[in-house]
Amino acid sequence: MTISVAGSPVPETGLDPLDPDFQRDPYPFYDWLLRHDPVHRGQEGTWYVTRFPDVRTVMSDERFGCASVRDFWAEMVGPGALQDVMSDTMFFEDNPHHARLRKLIMPVFSPKRMRAMEPKIAHIVDELLEPLARRGHMDVVSEFGAPLALHFVCNLIGVPPEGYDGVRRWSLDIAPTLDLVPSREEIIRGNQAMGEFTEYLTWLIGQRRADRRDDMISVMLDEMDKDQSGYDRPLTTSMIVSTVISVVFAGHDTVTNQVSNTMLALIDHPDQHELLRRRPELIESAVEESLRYDSSVQSNSRRVDEDTVIGGVQLRKGDFVVALMGAANRDPDVYPDPGRFDVTRAGAHPMSFGAGMRFCLGAVLARLELRAALTRLVPLADLRLDCARSDLSYQRSSMFRSLVDLPVRFTPATHYPPA
Ligand code: HEM
Repeated sequence: MTISVAGSPVPETGLDPLDPDFQRDPYPFYDWLLRHDPVHRGQEGTWYVTRFPDVRTVMSDERFGCASVRDFWAEMVGPGALQDVMSDTMFFEDNPHHARLRKLIMPVFSPKRMRAMEPKIAHIVDELLEPLARRGHMDVVSEFGAPLALHFVCNLIGVPPEGYDGVRRWSLDIAPTLDLVPSREEIIRGNQAMGEFTEYLTWLIGQRRADRRDDMISVMLDEMDKDQSGYDRPLTTSMIVSTVISVVFAGHDTVTNQVSNTMLALIDHPDQHELLRRRPELIESAVEESLRYDSSVQSNSRRVDEDTVIGGVQLRKGDFVVALMGAANRDPDVYPDPGRFDVTRAGAHPMSFGAGMRFCLGAVLARLELRAALTRLVPLADLRLDCARSDLSYQRSSMFRSLVDLPVRFTPATHYPPA
């Protein structure tokens, strides 16, 4: 049963993020919650927080912990490689261990290092796009966004090009188990993939031990060589494996999906697409607007570590809280006319990269990839969907907004880059 307010249905029994209507289009739900029930008690008693300042608090305040989310997840997937590896991930750690891991890998994401990657990003965008631009059609997800994102996440970690296919395959098999309620088959496949991924990375770490490079694995090995006696949890090879796998998940599908969500927003708003074609200097603000308008990461979960009040609502220790960043990005108190996609919108820093001590380490890289992608995709002539709009579908996910595919067609380019 649903309550319908201004055509926006919210189930009377509480929000269920796996409801097919919500999966297709969560924004009417967010709009309703923001106006009527900003700290909402959903199904199974989970709290859904929607307003920008409250979402920021949940994402950044240590009273909302991640380690206790791990216990829930570990029980859900049961014993096996998934549990072994993900139990050590920084996403499920609180301080002091979280801060230590974050500090350790931070130099890999330094602004200087990211700036140095810029020409490389432009080069890979061109390498991927030129044959597609000449062909006149592509699936933005599998043929462009995914290989682009995979390349840079692997590059950062230190996975050589011959390892990319394996990383992609394992990631696809593991991803469903990191979301809500995976099926038994998904857990079996995820465990198998996690076992193979771990074996590969253990081998690669062994290679790097003797031959250090300028990559994340080498940075962590250098730290492992130092005296570990001051730490209650000394750094181990399995912690390196877990951190590397976490970064693969953090930086792969997120960018892939943001590229396709952005392209769909432009196709749905031809006036904004035309404006960008005429004024490419707006690409930077278009990237920010697309992250706000349709973020690839819609939510993050926490568990309350001490009784606390948020948005005037009492939450108790042990409660689950979902911070709906996708809703915060549509908070009318922060963004006037939030449902409008406007590439000229100024000062629209979205909540899409999180906040505080867990703010996305890859935000600079993600923005560079998105800008480079748009610089080349926007000029494609007569860009349109290559299927009915109603044929597009999203992966079933409580966290991510992830198009299954995005087939597009355009006038084949006779010159590259297209002008
Ligand atoms: C559009 C693309 C991206 C989005 C929307 C995104 C979003 C986020 C969000 C919301 C968080 C915070 C999670 C939390 O608070 O629990 C986060 C954390 C993180 N992201 Fe990203 N991300 C993106 C791309 C990337 C890339 C490209 C990388 C690296 C290659 C990356 C690496 C990380 C890491 C390592 C963290 C953990 C930070 C910590 O716990 O201290 N992300 N990301």
